[in-house]
Amino acid sequence: MALGLLGIEETDRSVIEQILERAVAFQPHDGRTFAKANTCTGKLVVNAFFENSTRTRSSFEIAAHRLGADTLAITASGSSVSKGESLVDTLNTLVAMRPSAIVMRHQASGAPHFLSRHLSTPIVNAGDGTHEHPTQALLDARTILDCCGRLEGLRVAIIGDIQHSRVARSNVHLLSKFGADTVLCGPPSLLPREMASIASGVTLEYDILRAVTGAHVVMMLRVQLERIHEPAMQPGEYFRFYGLRQEHLSLAHPEVIVMHPGPMNRGREISSEVADSQRARILNQVENGVAVRMAVLERVLSQ
Ligand code: NCD
Repeated sequence: MALGLLGIEETDRSVIEQILERAVAFQPHDGRTFAKANTCTGKLVVNAFFENSTRTRSSFEIAAHRLGADTLAITASGSSVSKGESLVDTLNTLVAMRPSAIVMRHQASGAPHFLSRHLSTPIVNAGDGTHEHPTQALLDARTILDCCGRLEGLRVAIIGDIQHSRVARSNVHLLSKFGADTVLCGPPSLLPREMASIASGVTLEYDILRAVTGAHVVMMLRVQLERIHEPAMQPGEYFRFYGLRQEHLSLAHPEVIVMHPGPMNRGREISSEVADSQRARILNQVENGVAVRMAVLERVLSQ
């Protein structure tokens, strides 16, 4: 099996450390853009996105170009998947065009893992259903490290629709590998009890006030309405109980940072006041997305 990046759960801490360290070399400084590395000139990266994406797709594309690689974008609506072709056949067709790596987002949990057993081309998982989103957890870790200088011993509150969140799952695995304490918080309908046992150092909390108390990092998540048939709460009610507001931050650590993977729904899971505050690191996350994906692609393409 070719070495790609399928999930954080199965990735060793030492590999994560190497990627996070390498990403620093690509971070932009002094108002400039990302370093142009050209370490992957002549390589072809296929970006196969079978589910909607704005920031992840563009971030992977910029990352590949900054490394000197060429890219080809495939989307579900414009591909033969919409004509009934099986996923394996679609991917085999792409493989015949000899890409060096396939970056893939798919609505089915486990799709990239399944395909990686059938293909010789390395696959980078850009989000599979509700399962994992490894590069998001890596860019989140880079952002936390930039602000807090460490992961070990931090209290990280992840608040919102935990049940449908691949971002939460990948972050829980990463934070656990580095000795952070993760508090998962949301309404009972969106916070399955099993989440407490997916990794060490995880606790569940249904009360946002208790979740944010003493937190060094507060990570807010969108309610993924596209994956929910009947929402248990109206948006106003949800915001009243689980929306992050300025008053919550006074309970957190004085240097708390607020994160959000996007897309952000202002007035639903986060107030505009908090989203635009000095504590927010939401755009730093987007920026680190490119740097981290450069580090991931460089690693995968250099095999
Ligand atoms: C997330 C995703 O797609 O999993 N977004 C992202 O990649 N930045 C979260 C979400 O859609 O809510």
